[in-house]
Amino acid sequence: MSTKLIDFTGQLEVHDDWSAFNETEQKLLQSAKDACLSAYAPYSNFQVGAAVLLKNQLIIKGNNQENAAYPAGLCAERVALFNASSNYPKEEIEALALTIDFEGKDLSEPVFPCGSCRQVILEYEEKFQQPITLFIIGPSDEVVKIDSIKTILPFSFSGAFLGK
Ligand code: THU
Repeated sequence: MSTKLIDFTGQLEVHDDWSAFNETEQKLLQSAKDACLSAYAPYSNFQVGAAVLLKNQLIIKGNNQENAAYPAGLCAERVALFNASSNYPKEEIEALALTIDFEGKDLSEPVFPCGSCRQVILEYEEKFQQPITLFIIGPSDEVVKIDSIKTILPFSFSGAFLGK
């Protein structure tokens, strides 16, 4: 009998300001912040803004939409991605920016997408066979840049297991 080890450690790039990003990327980051302002989160007060950059350079915004029947609500990332995919189904998704505001509190660390949203982001990476760059805006507007959802969704489940 033998035991082998599978290594899955990694590192993420954190930028303390936006100067490393080009004009389009900065616009995407700002769009996520704008979207956050109009989140509908009366139950959690946890407002999330997302913005998706399409290949045609359009930016599609989304924010979390809550409901008195809690599970009926939806995360910002999925609101933005489903909007983009339903209106521009053939347009490749290049990037997604994300930010949160929890009652104006100072955050100690960036907030990453929930597991279900990571799975949905993966679906579109697989659909277009192209990684989606993630920009996660954290405390003091620092940005964690991630080249593919696979980095933060190791050992993922995809349509490949279903023969797709
Ligand atoms: N939320 C998001 O919009 N995105 C995430 O990745 C995590 C959580 C929302 C869902 C709910 O409206 C609120 O944040 C608290 O969970």
